[in-house]
Amino acid sequence: MSRLVIVSNRVSVPDHKGAAAAGGLAVALQAALAERGGIWMGWSGKSSGDIEPEPLQMTQDGNITYALSDLTQTDVEEYYQGFANRVLWPICHYRLDLAEYARKEMTGYFRVNRFFAHRLAPLIEPDDIIWVHDYHLIPLAAELRQMGLKNRIGFFLHIPWPPADVVLAMPVHEEIMRGLSSYDLVGFQTDHDLENFAGCLKREGMGIEKSPGHFSAHGHDFRGGAYSIGIETAAFAAFARKAASHSMVQKVRKSIEGRDLILGVDRLDYSKGITQRIDAFERFITNNPAHQRSVTYLQITPKSRSEVPEYEAMQHAVAEQAGRVNGAIGTVDWVPIRYINRSISRPILAGLYRLAKVGLVTPLRDGMNLVAKEYVAAQDPENPGVLVLSQFAGAARKLHGALLVNPYDVDGTANALARAVNMPLQERQERWRGMMDYLLEHDVLHWCETFLADLTAK
Ligand code: G6P
Repeated sequence: MSRLVIVSNRVSVPDHKGAAAAGGLAVALQAALAERGGIWMGWSGKSSGDIEPEPLQMTQDGNITYALSDLTQTDVEEYYQGFANRVLWPICHYRLDLAEYARKEMTGYFRVNRFFAHRLAPLIEPDDIIWVHDYHLIPLAAELRQMGLKNRIGFFLHIPWPPADVVLAMPVHEEIMRGLSSYDLVGFQTDHDLENFAGCLKREGMGIEKSPGHFSAHGHDFRGGAYSIGIETAAFAAFARKAASHSMVQKVRKSIEGRDLILGVDRLDYSKGITQRIDAFERFITNNPAHQRSVTYLQITPKSRSEVPEYEAMQHAVAEQAGRVNGAIGTVDWVPIRYINRSISRPILAGLYRLAKVGLVTPLRDGMNLVAKEYVAAQDPENPGVLVLSQFAGAARKLHGALLVNPYDVDGTANALARAVNMPLQERQERWRGMMDYLLEHDVLHWCETFLADLTAK
């Protein structure tokens, strides 16, 4: 079996706290690496200021080598905060209005990809299989090919891929499409993303789809596929069962005094639809006054990418809105929304998922959304909660037991909330069982194995 080399912007160096505690993706990739032996390379998350970064920092754990590199401050600003998170992120989430193009940042993005390629290449052996992850590193294969590497190289995009008209608005769309076309296999979260990609290639004659999933572009034949990422379903279910008795979870249970808990968990990001969700919660209460005091909405929203101006602006907007709604619909003895702007440890989070009567996951656009999957896996089979899920999350394409909503439709989401809190036990159990069976079968290991099987297939 060939060695595996994984490259991603963020690298999960293990702290040996156990599977579900670390997050499923890291565990699945570590399992694949442990089986084959290999390397996981990426950014250390640190800046070297204005001096050239030190050589790669290597750590060995069994037969896995972790190889991390710092980036200069200019690199961090142009590659990570700039092009990746102010152009590719909004574009891939259909937000042309938020994309901020700057030539300098585009150049920085390509420069850092070249830098990573130059640091990675000396570690590569001829038989290695290379698997690159996410939008930060689209040009990596093209750079490696230019250096003469003949290895099999796959790419998986964790976020959505939009239709051609959105992609074409991006000034460097040709280089980005050429970058994707340099891989042997390009994986997307859903068939919908894959179709959008095929549509982009066809437009303006950038490439053709020779047969389903087989493409040719820029003089290179390659494959594309949809591989929906999963979670460590069984491990996370067991983890949540245990976590329910965590003292902090018990404290929360006591503090809501028999009220139903509605739970939202998202990074603070405009793609998550948090302001629309708070509007929908307010509408739910004003339309259903009988539910005043009978529910508590807990929104856990750790800060994210705070150096990026659009994210900084959101911090103020959401905090202000949560305060305004509490003022408008709260009573002297009831605070409707508890808004937490910090991250919560995984055991407490798992216990809160299990405690919550409703999991409210309403992104405006999302590649997959693993919160939705973890919420389902965490439920008590005897008394499961209800998942209210945006139709624009990749997860909605397979989680048919969820109440699907259009997050832009405030009244529709408010109605779904009312339906969720009033749903009879039998209907909750039936909906949950179907989703859980799907998640057990399509867990993160299944995702990893299917992608690697296609990448290594002759
Ligand atoms: C999304 C992306 C990941 C990214 C994560 C956190 O899930 O797909 O690649 O790592 O957000 O964002 P951050 O900018 O903190 O890495």
